Amino acid sequence: LHVPTLISRKREGETLDPAEIRLLIGGYTSGEIPDYQMSAFAMAVYFKGMDAVETAALTKAMLESGDVFHHRAGHPAVVDKHSTGGIGDKVSLILAPLVACTGVWVPMVSGRGLGITGGTLDKLESIPGFKVGITIPEAQELLEKIGVVMMGQTDRFCPADKKLYALRDVTGTVPSIPLITASIMSKKLAESLDKLVLDVKFGSGAFMKTQADAQVLADSMIAVGKEMGVEVHAILNPMSEPLGRSVGNALEVIESIECMEGSGPGDLRKLVLDLAEKISPVSREELEKLLDDGSARKKFDEIVAAHGGNPADLPNLAKTHHAPLIREFPAPDTGTIMKVDAGMVGQAALQLGAGRARSHDGVDHAVGFDRLVKVGEHIHQGHPICRIHARTPVDFEIAEAMLEKAIRIKP
Ligand code: URA
Repeated sequence: LHVPTLISRKREGETLDPAEIRLLIGGYTSGEIPDYQMSAFAMAVYFKGMDAVETAALTKAMLESGDVFHHRAGHPAVVDKHSTGGIGDKVSLILAPLVACTGVWVPMVSGRGLGITGGTLDKLESIPGFKVGITIPEAQELLEKIGVVMMGQTDRFCPADKKLYALRDVTGTVPSIPLITASIMSKKLAESLDKLVLDVKFGSGAFMKTQADAQVLADSMIAVGKEMGVEVHAILNPMSEPLGRSVGNALEVIESIECMEGSGPGDLRKLVLDLAEKISPVSREELEKLLDDGSARKKFDEIVAAHGGNPADLPNLAKTHHAPLIREFPAPDTGTIMKVDAGMVGQAALQLGAGRARSHDGVDHAVGFDRLVKVGEHIHQGHPICRIHARTPVDFEIAEAMLEKAIRIKP
């Protein structure tokens, strides 16, 4: 494999052979191919793209760079969901236990938050004792036992993606459809799935700003699924206002528990059901029943216990993570809520410490927003737009100023 020739050919818009792509990824993972060649290659892909066969080959090479799940003969259907991420998106916390109640297996490998979008792992870690760092053999034991596992990407899980993503992050090559597709799909397909549903977001709080861009990404991921023999469904969803009424780590777990107890915000429940329906063997009505009768909630207790936490701690999360300053943010006018800008709310949550600016930073589990108004609701001047949970008075003031810009009220 002559890497400079490969880079030049991609630069000229040629289609590469799956075997060439496999060698390239193998060489990069082992360290034979240096970062400077891989970054030039990534930039060539950024400008010239890849077709579905090339993208599938890249995905396959990346997932085969590490360990993958091997489900035993006669296993139940294996399913999962992926979201391209959004503000207040705590769907995974509810969907994984819910879908596991329907007799399928859910080996959910999730990420941490980077930038304004929160990560499922950070949210789960607000539960005392919850351990996300488990191995694939341990995960497979949990699938046998409770049908679901919620874990992080270990060093041996898609190492090529880990390395390439870090490189793309510093070389201006993240927003490339084939590279994003291979990155996401390699991690999901390493779970050895039968079915996958994708929640592709668009809007101010999402990676893809327009619906048209989100559709291109969705089509690309569906095409790779097809190439690799996995049934992939995609739903496009707006991320213009936050999902639900809570943004933050522990605050989102609390809201998820409400949803699993049959209550919680309507938009959150609807999205959970829309996605769960695509990968469950049961009807929407039956899924609703599993939320309302406590089955999903009970399964969540099982997940918490299996991961080292104590389900008895769940009702006390608000006390465990009590921010020093919890204060209402009053509406400046009376009228109808026209806008709650997800991107701005995300930035405000980041300022409070709910997210991270660099990948090795920690997150503050207690801070964020709850009881947030929704677009279309009516509000009176002085009544709360939301509650702000802050660590310090300065943080509170910064968040307040940002929220003021995020909200629009029509008198
Ligand atoms: N999320 C990923 O996992 N990879 C990307 O490339 C973009 C978003």
